[in-house]
Amino acid sequence: MLDDGDCGGGVPVSTTAVQDSVERLTSSLRAHGVEGARVALVLGSGLGDFVDRVRGARAIPYASIDGMPQSSVPGHAGKLVVGDVGGVRVVVQQGRVHLYEGWSAHEVTRAVRAFGRLGVHALVLTNAAGGMKRAWPPPTLMRITDHVNLQGRTPLLPGEAGSGNPYDAELGAALDEAARASKVPLERGVYVGVLGPSYETPAEIRYLTAFGADAVGMSTVCEAQAGRAAGMRVAAISCITNLAAGLSPGPLNHAEVVEVGKQASQRFCDLLEAAVPRLSARVA
Ligand code: HPA
Repeated sequence: MLDDGDCGGGVPVSTTAVQDSVERLTSSLRAHGVEGARVALVLGSGLGDFVDRVRGARAIPYASIDGMPQSSVPGHAGKLVVGDVGGVRVVVQQGRVHLYEGWSAHEVTRAVRAFGRLGVHALVLTNAAGGMKRAWPPPTLMRITDHVNLQGRTPLLPGEAGSGNPYDAELGAALDEAARASKVPLERGVYVGVLGPSYETPAEIRYLTAFGADAVGMSTVCEAQAGRAAGMRVAAISCITNLAAGLSPGPLNHAEVVEVGKQASQRFCDLLEAAVPRLSARVA
């Protein structure tokens, strides 16, 4: 871990090392026949069931892919699934790695960059998140309209300017349309990415709420930035699995996050299934 530089620590980033690691992973994915996908999806904690909606699915364990970081967090299966959804070729990451496990921002985003190298047009990121609005009972689904990166890390390389808001308005509209078509309620809001692994304190949640965040989680922001830098258009959905610290009665725990994510599974899968062809229709 941390083998290719960590922008937040004291190790200088070697652009060549990062690019080489992405190239190595891309070659391995090609060798596994992962080519031709138009849409890539990353499934967050407890949201892995979407792979059951993939037709002609072929699963490739991360362990057999050279250069693919593997998560040790429960609820993250560690498989790449290729197949079709609504007639669109997709590649689905069932499980992701996190900064709080000790991986660098470049490792966390390596697969996303590889998807870009393989010619994927649209990247859909999903996650479990804590909600900051009492009016949104878990499990509420929220499409991310913008984010605040409080992870103290960037996946961008020197010279990659970044793109401002990485979430694509047109793809966001496609998600809204899919929500209406599948009759799945979908809120909109700002996601704040924190490092974790501890959940926030009530004081931190008051602070995050004061500057405009609607949901908080420990992933997604680096992947969104890297996906955009890699030339893909990006959409993202949070499944609000709990009210954030101080808004809910008891202490938060990961098992509850995964469990509530599973309660949202049917709706979440219906929404994504309706979304994939609509997203694909909007990208080149
Ligand atoms: N905080 C941070 N990350 C999370 C939460 C939370 O409350 N719920 C799920 N992921």
